[in-house]
Amino acid sequence: MINWRIEEEGFDQERISSHGNKFLVGNGYLGLRGTLPEYEKEEYVAVNLAGIYDQVGEGWREPLNAPNGLYTFVEVNNVEYRLPEVEPDTHKISLDYRHGIFERSTTWMTTAGILGINAQRFASMRDKHLICMSYTLCVEQDAQIVLSTGIDTRVWDINGPHYDEFMLESGTGNHGMHDMLQVIGITHESKDQVCVCEGIYTDFPVNQEITEVDQILLRKLFFTAKAGAQYQLLKYISVYTSKDDTDFANLGIELVYKAKQAGYESELKAQIEQWEKLWSISEVIIDGDDEAMEALNYSLYHLHCIAPRHTDQLSIAARGLSGQTYKGAVFWDTEMFMLDFFLLTEPTVAKTLLKYRIDTLEGAKKKAKNYGYQGAFYAWESQEGGYDACSDYNVTDVFTGRQMRTYFKDKQIHISAAIAYGIMRYVNYTGSNELLAEGGAEVIIECARFYHDLLLQKVSGGPYELHDVIGPDEYHERVNNNAYTNRMAKFTFESAILILTDVSHKDSRLEESLKGSYDINQLLAEFTDAARTLYVPEPKESSGIIEQFDGYFGLEDISIESLKERLLHEKEYWGGAYGIATHTKVIKQADVVTMLNLFSQDYDEEILLQNWKYYEPRTEHGSSLSACMYAILACKCHMPDQAYPFFMKSALSDISGKGKEWAGLIYIGGTHPASSGGAYMTAIEGFAGIHQEHGQLKAMPCLPSTWNGMSFHIMYHGELYHVKVTKEDTQITNLGTPK
Ligand code: IFM
Repeated sequence: MINWRIEEEGFDQERISSHGNKFLVGNGYLGLRGTLPEYEKEEYVAVNLAGIYDQVGEGWREPLNAPNGLYTFVEVNNVEYRLPEVEPDTHKISLDYRHGIFERSTTWMTTAGILGINAQRFASMRDKHLICMSYTLCVEQDAQIVLSTGIDTRVWDINGPHYDEFMLESGTGNHGMHDMLQVIGITHESKDQVCVCEGIYTDFPVNQEITEVDQILLRKLFFTAKAGAQYQLLKYISVYTSKDDTDFANLGIELVYKAKQAGYESELKAQIEQWEKLWSISEVIIDGDDEAMEALNYSLYHLHCIAPRHTDQLSIAARGLSGQTYKGAVFWDTEMFMLDFFLLTEPTVAKTLLKYRIDTLEGAKKKAKNYGYQGAFYAWESQEGGYDACSDYNVTDVFTGRQMRTYFKDKQIHISAAIAYGIMRYVNYTGSNELLAEGGAEVIIECARFYHDLLLQKVSGGPYELHDVIGPDEYHERVNNNAYTNRMAKFTFESAILILTDVSHKDSRLEESLKGSYDINQLLAEFTDAARTLYVPEPKESSGIIEQFDGYFGLEDISIESLKERLLHEKEYWGGAYGIATHTKVIKQADVVTMLNLFSQDYDEEILLQNWKYYEPRTEHGSSLSACMYAILACKCHMPDQAYPFFMKSALSDISGKGKEWAGLIYIGGTHPASSGGAYMTAIEGFAGIHQEHGQLKAMPCLPSTWNGMSFHIMYHGELYHVKVTKEDTQITNLGTPK
């Protein structure tokens, strides 16, 4: 049985930041960090918005946090009771991750005896612009209460402030607003407007006063509480931006009005129904290991919270909707780690993620052109329009405080291939070429043109090579012939050839449109030559090991433990020019192992195993993207029990709160959706062994010894399947086309 609730008892100031991630609720449009209603920006409160960015001065361009409409705290007999300032008697927070409902329950000793507060809130999965909160208080003896609730404009920013001004308005005297409060923030760079509107309901009489204090639009509700009685405040908050609709301000008011009319219980019921619908397809049952089942489904919860279902134009940021870390930008994490979950449970979301890349092709072409190449070089950290938010300096030297030049943006050329890979995976798993016809074909061709331009050959001949790149292992910058990158480039050429031949021959419209844009014969000749001649490092005959890049085998071989002893500062960066790992074989994350996962069919199992054994002890797993790759490859080597700890590491990354929070002096904390997606891939493609064979869905279970079986649903070629695997048996049942 799954326990769908996670809880934390007691108050620990040190855990405010990690709880913000662990207890996050979200609906793809916005993410609400797991903070308390009385918290302020010092406690990392964030109503993080998807796909809207701002830049101030030379600071990093980052996504916006909206003003906080949940802001609420209480005074009893003229004394404020709030965390973290006033130590509570008891305190508990919890998250019902089946339905995306966060709760807090706190008591303090006051002059009126015990004060108890219970609050609940959710980001509506039905209406993505709506947040609902219920806030109940009770005192032991009669007391004078001032309940303050409003909209706090002092938002937490990493590189802000992003609002040049706020317009505060209250419903008093403005009847169109039905006693609501509204704040409109105007952003610095594009003058976008972010509008937060709130309306409240109490079932007890209050005297209300509306004030503006310290940039907070606040209503103070005055009443006398009777001993032991419960006083409930219901709050409905809408969030819109000028990018959603020109009439955003009225839409916000209407939504709050509508929610108030419908009532909290009705909104809660809708919330539960919407989430139940999602779980009816995505829940994964593991027989024999409740801890793993809970960790996995909790990971899936996080993926649901950030899925862009309200639009067909957005992708998902590397830290989801947990804040501004990593600039709210889209990395290869989406295509290589998160895509499969959506592809197998909700292909419309998978399509949206890839549509974002089609829509940002122009940005990728522009980036390639800026570097002097043809084709599409996708942004390493992609924001709107494919703008590359990655700066030249991504790490701060802890010793000098100076920024360090990193080459992620310039040299991680494998990003373009990840997009080609994602599109082809979509085509294979949906069985439909529609995405290719809608621009996917052009993306793949442009990515292939980019790699074609980068090919190098010695004057004396020999294979084509790719030089001066960074592979997945970011600790070794500017290397030649990274095995992963070269193999992915080859895959891109092969995919482009397939599109220009088989696929387009079967689709006359696609064929015509490609003919209109390209010299097909020339491209085919170039790509065929490139795919055939590009060097992909082979396993060494003596050991079976594939060299990660030219010269890797000559680097110092040192254990991770011994390397750590060389650290002079706990936050020191391991890579770059002077990093402690740079001149050694220690790598940040799965690199060759990632390549072997994607192309395992090209290698004998013995080669997979030897490389797993060789690279694992040399991998720091300094990226949350790493563990799942080792888990999946271990399954391919029939070592489920060795895969298990890596799987659990991925699945627990947000529950454990142990994720890396610093790269040099740069804060990188937040949720880890790629790790969540990696846990899903390990469960479904590793342990259950789901794969395609001649266009048929197959399972090849490789279950950990403590597991009896697994069952789940997946979408394949537009139909829903129920899969049940045990150690002895596999059943795949076609349930037909879902309604
Ligand atoms: O995309 C990753 C990269 O592989 C390692 N550093 C963090 C990025 C965002 O998750």
